[in-house]
Amino acid sequence: MSVNINKKPVAIVTGASSGIGLGVTRALIEHGYCVVANSRSISRSKDLIASTDLVLVDGDIGKRETAVKVVNAAVKQFERIDLLVNCAGIYIPKPFTEYTLEDFETMIHTNIAGYFFVTQQAVAHMRKQKSGHVVGISTTLVDQPLAGAPISLPVITKSTIPAFSRALAMEYVADGIRANTISPGVVDTPLHAHDDHEALKKLHPIPRLVQISEIVDALFYLQSAPMVNGENIRIDGGAHAGAKW
Ligand SMILES: NC(=O)c1ccc[n+]([C@@H]2O[C@H](COP(=O)([O-])OP(=O)(O)OC[C@H]3O[C@@H](n4cnc5c(N)ncnc54)[C@H](OP(=O)(O)O)[C@@H]3O)[C@@H](O)[C@H]2O)c1
Repeated sequence: MSVNINKKPVAIVTGASSGIGLGVTRALIEHGYCVVANSRSISRSKDLIASTDLVLVDGDIGKRETAVKVVNAAVKQFERIDLLVNCAGIYIPKPFTEYTLEDFETMIHTNIAGYFFVTQQAVAHMRKQKSGHVVGISTTLVDQPLAGAPISLPVITKSTIPAFSRALAMEYVADGIRANTISPGVVDTPLHAHDDHEALKKLHPIPRLVQISEIVDALFYLQSAPMVNGENIRIDGGAHAGAKW
């Protein structure tokens, strides 16, 4: 039965237990959204507590059955889906010739299947509503790979997202559904907890890491901008614009 008696806007966030997804989930709740939050271990999260406005769904988002569970939870609990934010993702940097079959399958499974199935389920529901917005997180490295950065497999998976978003934006424009991408540089999240932050800062012309709040700001801008569709917002201090700094 629906608990969304006040008809709040409803969002789904994948990869919500950590980093960008956690920041996005907290901000959406603060802004009056009902949220269905997913990750493989979200029910064990110390940062998110289930409530009338927040449903936690455990599961591997690369599996279609998890995508169905997540979208069904949103429809059953909150009756609609206004926004899907696909944050679940993994990053395996390695020299190209050293990638294993397992690396390949795991990254395709999480970063591509994990976007495909939940978006497919959500868009099917958004079509019935005649409204909705799908946002994916890519990376600015897709447009500007760096000498010495072994990222071919992450780039394969993340380069699909802006293209996929543009395709969806066109296919479903008549159904009132938008699709956009946010492409950050290096964001200060647990993904980079053990990396050299001083070295990472130098990858941006504005020499600091991107903050999660800056991804959240871009998301709320996209959410508030009904004419922005098929867009890719880069948040990288200008790295994509220049060749050397
Ligand atoms: N941080 C950066 O510099 C950066 C830059 C560009 C793009 N991105 C992208 O932004 C997204 C978020 O990154 P982040 O830095 O916030 O990473 P993070 O802190 O490591 O968080 C990743 C999230 O994804 C979840 N996840 C991983 N595999 C999953 C699966 N199979 N099913 C469901 N959830 C899964 C994790 O939770 P569980 O372990 O509980 O499943 C976690 O909640 C990723 O797509 C990443 O590629 C990040």
